[in-house]
Amino acid sequence: MESDTLRVYDQAAAAYDAEPNSVLFTETAAVLALLDLRKGDALLDAACGTGKYVREGLKGGADCVGLDFSREMLALAAAKCPGARFVRHDLMSPPLPFAGGAFGKIILAHALWHLAGVAALFAEFARLLGPGGRLVVTVTHPEAAFKRFEYRREDCPGGDEIDISKERRRYTLGEITAAALSAGLRPAAAETIQVDERLRPVLTEESYARVRGTPLILALRFDKP
Ligand SMILES: C[S@@+](CC[C@H](N)C(=O)[O-])C[C@H]1O[C@@H](n2cnc3c(N)ncnc32)[C@H](O)[C@@H]1O
Repeated sequence: MESDTLRVYDQAAAAYDAEPNSVLFTETAAVLALLDLRKGDALLDAACGTGKYVREGLKGGADCVGLDFSREMLALAAAKCPGARFVRHDLMSPPLPFAGGAFGKIILAHALWHLAGVAALFAEFARLLGPGGRLVVTVTHPEAAFKRFEYRREDCPGGDEIDISKERRRYTLGEITAAALSAGLRPAAAETIQVDERLRPVLTEESYARVRGTPLILALRFDKP
């Protein structure tokens, strides 16, 4: 399971929630609308980090499982989410340790860029979803103009000394959709989250003026028939 990405997240865990990451938090309402969590839903938060969507699921009475490969992230998530179950597993090592049809909802938020083999991963998610289940995936928008972003301060503290650029992947929307279709999942909805006021405090004024209104995050929903 060793990788530089794992080392970075183990190191960054303690600071991950200390300074809320405005980029990640702009998507929350859109993701919750796409997930449409109901009381009693079985939710898997894949690559759960410190358990953001597990917490949201618990609030609505869902039965929540968080999975991540970082021990440090999982320890924080478990401390913040009494009543949820957490599992340490590498998403690139299928099968995931759950029975077929175990979940009605799966969220994979901001982790696809760390994962090779989107087709195998989506096939595994399709196995885990029961009929009528849904998968919601968020990614940096393929058209996000990040070169024009200039932050006032470092956005994600910790782990900066390790270069994980070689372990990052940037999937196109076509590749993500093809992986879903070949897994038997139907594209059902797509939401673009744009740069708005919520990002203003972390960007320099010049940068905010340049990127305001441009695409930031893409949230995709796929349904299992
Ligand atoms: C940017 S964080 C997102 C965390 C959370 N989903 C959120 O939205 O706050 C990416 C997460 O993916 C996890 N991760 C990266 N590669 C992984 C892998 N191969 N298997 C399991 N988890 C992985 C990291 O440990 C980290 O917690």
